Amino acid sequence: MTTTESQQRERIPIHVHDTADEVARTLAREIATLIHQRASSGRSLVLGLATGSTPVRLYRELIRMHREEGLSFYNVITFNLDEYHGLPRDHPESYWRFMHDQLFDHIDIPRTSIHIPDGTVPRAAVYDWCRDYEKQITDAGGIDLQILGIGRTGHIGFNEPGSGPDSRTRLVTLDSMTRRDAARDFLGEANVPRHAITMGVGTILAAKKIILLAWGEAKSRVIADAAERPPAETLPASFLQQHPDTTFLLDRPAASELTRFKLPWLVGQVEWTPALSRRAVAWLSRHAKKPVLKLLDDDYTEHGMSDLLTEQGPAYKLNIRIFNELQHTITGWPGGKPDADDTHRPERAAPHPKRVLVLAPEPSDDALGMGGTLRRLVEQGHHVTVAAQTSGNLGVPDDEIATFADFLAELNTPAPVGASLATPSPASIVPRPLISESGVQSPESILSSCSGGVHAAPDLRRYKALLRRGEQRAATRACGVLAENTLFLDLPFYEQGRYRQFRATEADITATVALLRKITPHQIFATGDSEDPSSVPAVCFDILRQSLARTREDAWQRDCRIWLYRSPARDWNIAEIDMAVPMSPLELTAKLQSIRHHKSQRDQQTGESWRTAEHHDQSVARAYDEFGLANYEAIEPFRRYQIA
Ligand code: GLP
Repeated sequence: MTTTESQQRERIPIHVHDTADEVARTLAREIATLIHQRASSGRSLVLGLATGSTPVRLYRELIRMHREEGLSFYNVITFNLDEYHGLPRDHPESYWRFMHDQLFDHIDIPRTSIHIPDGTVPRAAVYDWCRDYEKQITDAGGIDLQILGIGRTGHIGFNEPGSGPDSRTRLVTLDSMTRRDAARDFLGEANVPRHAITMGVGTILAAKKIILLAWGEAKSRVIADAAERPPAETLPASFLQQHPDTTFLLDRPAASELTRFKLPWLVGQVEWTPALSRRAVAWLSRHAKKPVLKLLDDDYTEHGMSDLLTEQGPAYKLNIRIFNELQHTITGWPGGKPDADDTHRPERAAPHPKRVLVLAPEPSDDALGMGGTLRRLVEQGHHVTVAAQTSGNLGVPDDEIATFADFLAELNTPAPVGASLATPSPASIVPRPLISESGVQSPESILSSCSGGVHAAPDLRRYKALLRRGEQRAATRACGVLAENTLFLDLPFYEQGRYRQFRATEADITATVALLRKITPHQIFATGDSEDPSSVPAVCFDILRQSLARTREDAWQRDCRIWLYRSPARDWNIAEIDMAVPMSPLELTAKLQSIRHHKSQRDQQTGESWRTAEHHDQSVARAYDEFGLANYEAIEPFRRYQIA
């Protein structure tokens, strides 16, 4: 394996690309070459395939090559990694459905060449079925190229922590984090199957060549651990180190925790830019468990940072400089402090008040990521508009809508006062007659007409969107935002797409450009950069990026700053924070109260973040305290985004 000095800690060859699309194009070409080579010698290519959002771009590119370049899959045999146990094939979330929707239905692969673990095999027959699956792989000549994604637990296929390197195709129990990650697809964690059939780690390691793909910052930690730590059952992907021909293909955010990017001074010579120096000192302070101002020359030299000292030391001088830089990120004036000297403030004083646009990928992201700052901006007199980019209707479990639909139905069939007291049985609160003039259906008819998720009846999705609008209005109102300034873009990509497969369309950009031109903001708060490119926040951010490019010549852009807030589930490197807005205990309580208006989200994936928003803000405050700066109750962090 050829590596550079900076890759010395990586035990697996890793290629990092600018974008996931670039990886997909390169890999699709490689697969096409393999297919051609095999075809010319009259043999088949055996591919091991994966599901999830990660390989979707690869499949799209293969379909494009089939349609536009005549790439034939006639001599390809496929074996899929895994399948949920207990789901019928036609369930919208079955991997069988996924593979047919995403690839097989669009290419010329013979149906008999497709192999996917069968989630409908009765429990008692699973063992024999799995042995037969292994035999079919062997009979096909073994897997030539296995494509893998990776779960946040470090699983490959569904080989959760605890899976050994010799494990074979079998029934497994899913980890709770894996089930939480799938909760949105299934409209609630309770609906996620508990078991799956998966190829074993040993089955995967038997493939001749393996390529693991990963996008987005959420995967960065597990990628670094899999590549740089000794193999262990606690992280099954780490066993790929034992395979002679495995490569990781990553986008930049997914690679960001590798030592060569995170702590590059530990693995070679670096150019000490101001940003890197700040990152290094902040890291040293945390690592040595000392406030910045107490770091000694010895601390630097003992941690491979002697050349930083030579260039910018001694420690005393360097410490003070970085201390001041960190100190200057703290401000109680996120929109700028009017009439103050702003030389060292994150945001400029003028103009005041500012026109501020807060973009939330889904209603509730704003409250979770920057509820405290939102309230401050309003209190400090800025003209704040909050725009939810998507309706967020896929994030509402079916049963959440029952109360709401019942309310509507009741409203349209006024019952005599006291009637409900006279008929207190639970049945009385559900079925109500359909009101034809108003178009309002009974909750019963709405709920029975849907199978959930993306396949939900349009009415159900519309009602869910309205529910989230109501919650969003209540939450922004609690932060002081005027009702007419709480907007809903309902971007079409979301209404037409589904989780793990979203992609931006022209109509999304047009709508966003129109919003930008209407508000002509001095500040935009947004989130979603560096995330899995097909996730809702990432698609929303990409739409913003493209909309900014379209409006580059507009006068307002010259006077507009963009601040990134942290999306609910993500941690940021503390040293990369450009603005830290502190909260008192009372302000934190107020933020949590505004978040609680998003009632439909309490059991969803964001419900997890709902519970941890408090913890996140407090942990940022703790980090500032440990640097030896101020000791606040909580802090909301922001990064400055430069318009390209
Ligand atoms: C599921 C699949 C894995 C996949 C993982 C990551 O658990 N069984 O094969 O790698 O999810 O999914 P995603 O690519 O959507 O992040």
